[in-house]
Amino acid sequence: MTQLPRHVAIIMDGNGRWAQSQGVPRAAGHRAGLKPTRMSIQECARRGIEALTLFAFSSENWNRPADEVSSLMNLFVDSLDREIDELHASRVRVRFIGDRKQLAVRLQTRIAAAEQRTGDNDGLRLQIAMSYGGRWDIVQAAQELARQCSSGSIRPADIDEARFAAHMQLAGVPEVDLMIRTGGEQRISNFLLWHAAYAELYFSAMLWPQFDVAELEAALSFFAGRERRFGLTQAQLSDPAGRSDPAGQPGRAGQ
Ligand code: IPE
Ligand code: IPE
Ligand code: MG
Repeated sequence: MTQLPRHVAIIMDGNGRWAQSQGVPRAAGHRAGLKPTRMSIQECARRGIEALTLFAFSSENWNRPADEVSSLMNLFVDSLDREIDELHASRVRVRFIGDRKQLAVRLQTRIAAAEQRTGDNDGLRLQIAMSYGGRWDIVQAAQELARQCSSGSIRPADIDEARFAAHMQLAGVPEVDLMIRTGGEQRISNFLLWHAAYAELYFSAMLWPQFDVAELEAALSFFAGRERRFGLTQAQLSDPAGRSDPAGQPGRAGQ
């Protein structure tokens, strides 16, 4: 049986360059990104992958030209309106991660409605990262823990990795096993910093609008071929009795 990731995260990059190659506006590139997005959700659900997290808009993307930001926000509103029935029918549970207070109220309203409507679904757990930054996520968890310390409900010594993870946006979602980035860049661009600790990284030269089932399969078979050691030696992996802490997988605490 091939090893399947429980949680796949994708940095959907390259829409702008794809648009340029086609001689169309950047906004058209973002629209063309919908098809691979839909495909990735369907394929992950069909294969029984538990969780999929998509990077749609970063904390830093707010600094793009205003017309690009507003065309992206309109696209998010329209796509949510258009896709939510089908997502719900496929039993997908949709959640948004990121600083949603920064988003327009009409988008916030749809986000809340989508989360509420699909909250009890038992299919794929889909997280959409919007106005999300890995640093922001760590800072907001730290702030919440600091509040709990100052109110006296916990002591600083009570803060361990499990408690910290429980205050991050992906609390309760399995650890990221496979992180895919399209568009040819080999960087994380402030995506899931905490969660990338032991993720396998797959960089694809394809621009996001070109991403297809075959490339998703290539990423999954790359993953299936990895030996994940979590800091142990190869000998320990082949003889689990040799482990001093058989359950010990760093970063898995609290997940
Ligand atoms: C990714 O594509 C989508 C977002 C960041 C919102 P880009 O818009 O970054 O495309 P490139 O990298 O300029 O080609
Ligand atoms: C990362 O892509 C963010 C998303 C895909 C949403 P960027 O295009 O913003 O990243 P950089 O600027 O190339 O690092
Ligand atoms: Mg980019």
